Amino acid sequence: MIYRLSDFHFPDRAARLYPDTPERPWVLEVGFGDGRFWPHFAATFPEPPNYLGVEISGVSLLKAARRLRAAGLTNAVLTKLPATPLIREVVPEGALDAIVVNFPDPWPKAGHTEHRLLRAPFFRLAASRLKPGGAVLLTTDHDEYFEFACQEAAASGVMAAELTDAPPAALETKYARKWRDLGLGANHARFVPTTRPPVPHGPITRYPDTRYPDLEDSPAVPHAILTLPATFDPSTFQKHTGRGGQTREDPAGWTVVLLDLYRTLGRDAWVVLAHVVEGELTQEVLIGITGREDGSHLVRLARFGGPIITPGVKAAVGVVTGWLEAQGAAVRHRGY
Ligand SMILES: C[S@@+](CC[C@H](N)C(=O)[O-])C[C@H]1O[C@@H](n2cnc3c(N)ncnc32)[C@H](O)[C@@H]1O
Repeated sequence: MIYRLSDFHFPDRAARLYPDTPERPWVLEVGFGDGRFWPHFAATFPEPPNYLGVEISGVSLLKAARRLRAAGLTNAVLTKLPATPLIREVVPEGALDAIVVNFPDPWPKAGHTEHRLLRAPFFRLAASRLKPGGAVLLTTDHDEYFEFACQEAAASGVMAAELTDAPPAALETKYARKWRDLGLGANHARFVPTTRPPVPHGPITRYPDTRYPDLEDSPAVPHAILTLPATFDPSTFQKHTGRGGQTREDPAGWTVVLLDLYRTLGRDAWVVLAHVVEGELTQEVLIGITGREDGSHLVRLARFGGPIITPGVKAAVGVVTGWLEAQGAAVRHRGY
């Protein structure tokens, strides 16, 4: 089954994602490509474990979904997201039996190593999300990345590496076959947590399911109420960037780019299209500016597109409110 980010809970539970098989082992695969690993690996268990697959390529997502459906693997959830936010926000602590990474992108050029997945912060996150006895299983043809990953695991201070043969299923993937045809071998390591460090979930919530009659009683949806000046002229809108939220744990913080503003037809309302970047997670959200009966306006994150309410999304409502204040609006209430 394909899940969007907004379909998950933060964190989620195996019992909710796999209601028919909650007691089975739970395996996460990062970068599943065309999905060949899982049918082979699942067949080595008496019953297919629960599977969560994460991949950033939409084409791969569709190919893998078809393959898993054809193999009758129903207790499988696939999603198109970067792996780190999925693992941090969706997977509960101590929940996974294995995190599988087959032939990760090696980023071989000098100066590109910061793009590699298997760095010390990833190993700390993985250690916090694995069950006792769980492991990160890495298979790669790339000797230099393999060395790098082993060094990063050691530097994380929470993983011990066991070098073993790759599971046969990892040698059946598209990339495994590609490198084998070129005569390259595969390295395999099993990284086993030595301790479970606390890596907390972020302050992320779902868009509420119920609609509230009185929006001022709805703090969960970021909003503001303000009075626009009679001189308000939306045609003065210009693309605008705001940054903030940097902390020691999250040095990147959030970046909000207000891309455009559109007027709705027949109503006293506009929407702002905003691009929100928080580390690897990006969201395009709409923020409505809607006239109320008392003449004030409500600035509020719209449900459209299934947004997740993150610090950056709250900040986007603040950036829109700030722009309106700069146009002379008087803010009566801030709920973001
Ligand atoms: C070299 S391919 C290997 C694919 C597959 N595992 C195989 O062995 O055939 C690496 C895959 O990882 C995916 N990927 C890269 N970065 C990712 C990330 N941060 N989160 C999830 N998937 C990622 C890419 O889209 C690509 O499909």
